[in-house]
Amino acid sequence: MGFSTFKSANKLITGQTALEYLLPAITQFNIKKPLIISDQGVVKSGTILHVLNLLNVEYSIYDAVKPEPELEQVQDCIEFYHQHKNDAVIAVGGGSALDIAKCVAALAGQSGHVRDFVGTDKIGSRNIALIVIPTTSGTGSEVTNIAILSDTKNQMKQGIVSDFLLPDVAIVSPLMSVSCPATVTAASGVDALVHAIEAYISVNHSDITDALALQAIALIVEYLPQAYALPSNLIAREKMATASLMAGLAFGNAGVGAVHALAYPLGGKYKMAHGVSNALMLPYVLKWNVIGCAERLSNIAKVLKLGQSHLHTENAEKLVEFLHKFCRQLNIPASLRDFSIQEEDLPALAAEAIKVERLLKNNPRQLSVDDIEAIYREAYAA
Ligand SMILES: NC(=O)c1ccc[n+]([C@@H]2O[C@H](COP(=O)([O-])OP(=O)(O)OC[C@H]3O[C@@H](n4cnc5c(N)ncnc54)[C@H](O)[C@@H]3O)[C@@H](O)[C@H]2O)c1
Ligand SMILES: [Fe+2]
Repeated sequence: MGFSTFKSANKLITGQTALEYLLPAITQFNIKKPLIISDQGVVKSGTILHVLNLLNVEYSIYDAVKPEPELEQVQDCIEFYHQHKNDAVIAVGGGSALDIAKCVAALAGQSGHVRDFVGTDKIGSRNIALIVIPTTSGTGSEVTNIAILSDTKNQMKQGIVSDFLLPDVAIVSPLMSVSCPATVTAASGVDALVHAIEAYISVNHSDITDALALQAIALIVEYLPQAYALPSNLIAREKMATASLMAGLAFGNAGVGAVHALAYPLGGKYKMAHGVSNALMLPYVLKWNVIGCAERLSNIAKVLKLGQSHLHTENAEKLVEFLHKFCRQLNIPASLRDFSIQEEDLPALAAEAIKVERLLKNNPRQLSVDDIEAIYREAYAA
């Protein structure tokens, strides 16, 4: 029926020696003075040196990206880019640094404010080379055409969606995530799991995104606990880096759904880390979704060898139960009460979440504002 398109970064380099591709990429794009965009965690851990020690060109560093960064930080960084007369962007960081870098590369050559580009297909071109090196596993931002930034004015996370945000080169090395703090490993790892599950049950899934999503789910369930338990486990880090990239390709093309839509207001209003808000909402939204995608959830349960019943709903329920335990094992809180959220705030959260139509339209069950409030209530009462 119809057709589907498949989008990715132009070139993907993966594996333990992937960073060796950085210099050839710099030569290929004739880069003379790149701007390295990063953050304090990556700099203080020394992980940035894996990149800086390789560079054979002059460069500048903007290392002030904040977690869950604000839209305005894009403007600040664009100013820095022009002041330092840079000619390309290299992102070294988690989703936060990558999203800022994607916007800087696409918008530094345009007139207007970053707020003018919020929404879908508002960017007309990009002529600045963009290389991304993720340090978390993760957001999958290295292969998606979206940047998600905080909008404090509206207490919401906003998406800028454009194919001009797709990087020229993504270099995905497990060496970059070894220094990730355990809480970040857990939260970003579950974010990748949510990407894969939501892509698999999305109404826009395809055979291509299904294959990527199912393999990503299997890898994450096996290797995320190992990476969390022993941060220096390079095999687990490599499998997670690949799984996160695969989940990014899956959701970058099939979309994510209600888990993300209900997580957005939690990030916007209560500054919860993206991975934590998604992990928290995951089992409650999936439980609600079962009647819309029992067979698909049952397929996931079968891949994970959780349930072999001939009844799809039984297997789907086993999956939901498993995901609860999986997140607890990683010490991610299970209840909205674990954050400074009051019960009387829930209707306002639901009123915000229903506005995230861009994602809710991908969900296998249509949700009303009352449904959403009921889901928040379950996540609160837990
Ligand atoms: N564009 C997309 O497709 C997409 C998808 C999902 C999420 N996101 C966005 O990405 C952001 C979250 O990104 P994230 O989960 O990767 O976390 P992050 O980039 O916000 O980083 C979290 C913390 O971990 C630290 N850190 C990261 N890597 C490290 C390393 N290797 N060593 C030491 N410290 C390290 C950072 O300094 C930071 O303090 C959110 O803003 C979210 O909305 C974007
Ligand atoms: Fe996400």
